[in-house]
Amino acid sequence: MRLLVCGGAGFIGSTFVRLRVRQHGDTVTVLDKLTYAGRQENLHDVIDDIRFVHGAIEDPVAVADAVAGCDAIVNFAAETHVDRSISGPEAFIITNMQGTHVLLEAARERGLRYVQVSTDEVYGSIDEGSFTERSPLQPSSPYSATKTGADLLVASYFHTYGLPTVICRGSNNYGPYQYPEKLIPLMILNALAGDPLPVYGDGRNVRNWLFVEDFGAGIGQVLERGAPGEAYNCGGPDECENLTVVTRILELAGADHSLIEFVTDRPGHDRRYSLSSEKLRALGWQPRVHFEEGIERTVRWYRDNAWWWEPIRSGAYREYYERHYGRALKS
Ligand code: NAD
Ligand code: DAU
Repeated sequence: MRLLVCGGAGFIGSTFVRLRVRQHGDTVTVLDKLTYAGRQENLHDVIDDIRFVHGAIEDPVAVADAVAGCDAIVNFAAETHVDRSISGPEAFIITNMQGTHVLLEAARERGLRYVQVSTDEVYGSIDEGSFTERSPLQPSSPYSATKTGADLLVASYFHTYGLPTVICRGSNNYGPYQYPEKLIPLMILNALAGDPLPVYGDGRNVRNWLFVEDFGAGIGQVLERGAPGEAYNCGGPDECENLTVVTRILELAGADHSLIEFVTDRPGHDRRYSLSSEKLRALGWQPRVHFEEGIERTVRWYRDNAWWWEPIRSGAYREYYERHYGRALKS
């Protein structure tokens, strides 16, 4: 296939590009704005095998340049961090909603297949059981509201214009190349450095963890076999409380439990996410990496790849950390 992968320099997008180039022999163009979260380093081993366009999805000129010669668009590009959406929602509205609109127009003009990468957060929080694709959309944060807005716009392009769109909603991803503002890489790097591990609230919120390569494979199935107009959930095999995750990271990093610090809770913090992925499993997908294996691989990767995270941890990230957590990183 000839794919335009938007947001392909981010955590999940770069994993997907690697998978499609290496295992499927696809021709890939990446369009990425290279925000704080996007880095060409994430594509270091495939950069010579792809076409890279530096630009924003909300810019129709950049999109027209990037999409030339492609037969499908897969959109990962987004502002993705819930905490940043609470302190400043505007960028989320521009990228996640306006940007999606520009991409949908580009797909409509050219009759391209369109895959929207979405999230379990569009369903909101669930105390028991799991969300299916028919569950109501009840987003809680500005981040998830903009992802929901994008999903609804995508669905409208199928219903109104017959555009062959599909949506893939993933649960919490973890693995190599994840920017250390998110729970798992933040806790790994703090544990390795001997810095405190800031756990929100009582630490009993539950997330449904999905190894990033499994999400990449799920999105690939949706791209190749998903029915137009449909959405597919892609949930991980294991659910864990945050405290369990953090404790396991401390053990694997060989760090002391006294590093755990309970801090003020996130406003509107969703208690639990859980997805039923039966519909995607019926297309032949299943998650292959359980949390125990995935977290070991992830801690090892961060331990072995300081070249990747040292420039992040010593740059603008320090200011973000100080602003958000109200304290500096010690080391
Ligand atoms: P990320 O923050 O690591 O990467 C986002 C990428 O998008 C970066 O490369 C960034 O430079 C790029 N980008 C941002 N704004 C852009 C714009 N206006 N134009 C072009 N590029 C832009 O995100 P991620 O965790 O890899 O998430 C990728 C997608 O998967 C997102 O749509 C997110 O909502 C979704 N998702 C993430 C998770 C998760 O746990 N991380 C789970 C489910 C779904
Ligand atoms: O569920 C899918 C979503 O997962 C994606 O759509 C989002 O893009 C992605 O950011 C992620 O959202 P979460 O808010 O669930 O992930 P985060 O890593 O920010 O937080 C995971 C849990 O850990 C959550 O309950 C909040 C908690 N947490 C997070 C941080 C950053 C802490 O306790 N301390 C922290 O410092």
